[in-house]
Amino acid sequence: MTTAVMQTYARYNVTFEKGEGVYLFDTAGRRYLDFGSGIAVNSVGHCHPHLVEALKKQAETFWHCSNLYHIPDQQRLADRLTANSFADAVFFNNSGNEAVEMMAKIARKYQFENGHPERYRVISVEGAFHGRSLAMLAAGKQEKHLIGFGPQVDGFDQVAFGNLNEMRAAVTPETAAIIFEPVQGEGGIRPMDPAYVKALREIADEFELLLMADEVQTGVGRTGTLFGYERFAVTPDVMALAKGLGGGFPVGATLATAKVAAAMTPGSHGSTFGGNPLAMAVANAVLDVVLADGFLDNVKAMGKKLTAGMQALVAAYPTLFVETRGLGLHLGLRCQDTVVGNDVVVKAMENGLLLVPAGDNVVRLIPPMTIEAAHVEEALTILDTSCAQLIEQGTGG
Ligand SMILES: Cc1ncc(COP(=O)(O)O)c(C=O)c1O
Repeated sequence: MTTAVMQTYARYNVTFEKGEGVYLFDTAGRRYLDFGSGIAVNSVGHCHPHLVEALKKQAETFWHCSNLYHIPDQQRLADRLTANSFADAVFFNNSGNEAVEMMAKIARKYQFENGHPERYRVISVEGAFHGRSLAMLAAGKQEKHLIGFGPQVDGFDQVAFGNLNEMRAAVTPETAAIIFEPVQGEGGIRPMDPAYVKALREIADEFELLLMADEVQTGVGRTGTLFGYERFAVTPDVMALAKGLGGGFPVGATLATAKVAAAMTPGSHGSTFGGNPLAMAVANAVLDVVLADGFLDNVKAMGKKLTAGMQALVAAYPTLFVETRGLGLHLGLRCQDTVVGNDVVVKAMENGLLLVPAGDNVVRLIPPMTIEAAHVEEALTILDTSCAQLIEQGTGG
């Protein structure tokens, strides 16, 4: 297809024109069960009536208001996010990249304000993905993303996944913070070990570093708790949210403790669109749904059911899959090295199920958190059919 859209994506050959709950419909009217959620974005499904109503109401009231003025819905959302997390203050931005990059700025400013201007470096964990700005590419250190973009932005170091000796050895007098994803998403649904995260907290405390959680993918219920860090018995000092927070409306948020947020003085950071009334109306509506009684119980229950079904698929198709991974409804199937994960995604799509590939040859199952048992069964049936067809075609043989 010739198009004026810049060709930065290798797109699948399908065009969607309508969404309804857990389903998307293409231009031919074909229905797809959406277990990709626009990469963990459609947290409560497509066109959730409560979100539609909130967006319409705000659209008819007013759209944009500068951060030069008070925005009540921003205050309300900040109050709700802090009441339900370790944090005391929130800055709103527009994307995951912005939310995470602000954490790196906060780390530097916090150390600067506390008498350590020499501390500016951030240590990340191999396999991480933190976004596509020049700084976040340097934080993620993925060769495939960095190539062609010149020298890396200075100030980011990386250590092996799960290796505490390396982490400790990487701390220098210039280190300001450690950044981690409770479950690496793009890296292949790789949950961090609780003991490892606890030790990260200890290292951060010992060397007066900030512990920063990138919860852009894991946040807002995805792992079965409101935030992924709740799975570990520690709290971070700073956290980034985006994706599921807006349920499809672009929004990001950077949360911090009062002590850390105090470093961000007037004029130290800003965003034209961040905390826009439209985004705030929708994000508050998402929280109405996610914080409702029983919602997170459903995420846990559906996650358990889906995981059991995925485990049965791993057992039934050992030449295709190695294992299941993940927490809550943030799940993945690790494919065998002889299998191209994307072939599983394409086959499932042919059969009406949307999945998302990830690093480490993993296929992600990240459905809207509003799914019911029947959707899980439908997805597993389609996956089973797809696997049988792949075997028939000689995949994994
Ligand atoms: C953990 C994590 N951090 C940051 C980002 C970047 O978010 P965005 O694409 O909204 O800039 C992503 C996106 O996949 C992510 O998964």
